[in-house]
Amino acid sequence: MTQDLSLPAVKKTAWIDGHRLRLRQANVADASFIFNLRHHPLRNQHMSATSTRPEDQSQWLARYALDNSQAYFVVETKENTEHPPLAGYRQPLGTVRLYDAREHSFCWGSWMLLPDAPPFAAIESALIVYRYALGLGFRSAHFEVQQGNLAVCRFHENFGAVRVGEDAGQIHYTLDHERMLESLHRYRRFLPAGIKHAPLIN
Ligand SMILES: CC(C)(COP(=O)(O)OP(=O)(O)OC[C@H]1O[C@@H](n2cnc3c(N)ncnc32)[C@H](O)[C@@H]1OP(=O)(O)O)[C@@H](O)C(=O)NCCC(=O)NCCS
Repeated sequence: MTQDLSLPAVKKTAWIDGHRLRLRQANVADASFIFNLRHHPLRNQHMSATSTRPEDQSQWLARYALDNSQAYFVVETKENTEHPPLAGYRQPLGTVRLYDAREHSFCWGSWMLLPDAPPFAAIESALIVYRYALGLGFRSAHFEVQQGNLAVCRFHENFGAVRVGEDAGQIHYTLDHERMLESLHRYRRFLPAGIKHAPLIN
């Protein structure tokens, strides 16, 4: 299939810095962190199940590296000298993934944070994803949330996402351009200086 060059595409980048978080591109060395997160009993009730074999996670990440249609990140603390225990050390907190470009809309998901991630991490990681996607030329987003994942539904609805359908236990949401910009503005204190990222890779 030929790519329509007038349409935006999901691009990988080595890292995206926000205010207190960095999204670093995931690689095979992250397999055990991601495996443990995906199997965390407090976090995986509403996620699609992934293999219980750690080596499958490594293989998934090796295939991901060759797949130019998605960008998968480990959410980390930025190097932080304000909080001595974190000085010089980027602590992995979770994951997030951008994929499935459809015209001017992108999908994001695989969004998980450790239960002890700081409270700002959810909102800042979402804002970083939207900023990055806007920079790639996307205007809107689509995503799915499992029925019953009430806190996450509420989170997205607070951002202006609208339910557009339901099937097989999944609620389908879209977030349009105006609501995305409005939320970036409303929650700007979580990302006061926007984002910086490494050069785009593909
Ligand atoms: C999805 C996930 C990453 C969201 O992270 P979270 O920390 O649970 O997100 P929350 O909605 O609790 O928000 C975190 C904090 O930001 C605050 N917050 C959330 N939305 C906010 C908003 N719009 N304005 C201001 N504050 C907000 C919350 O009040 C909360 O603060 P508190 O801990 O002091 O109450 C996390 O729940 C997770 O890993 N879940 C398991 C996997 C999953 O279901 N993923 C989603 C798949 S679709």
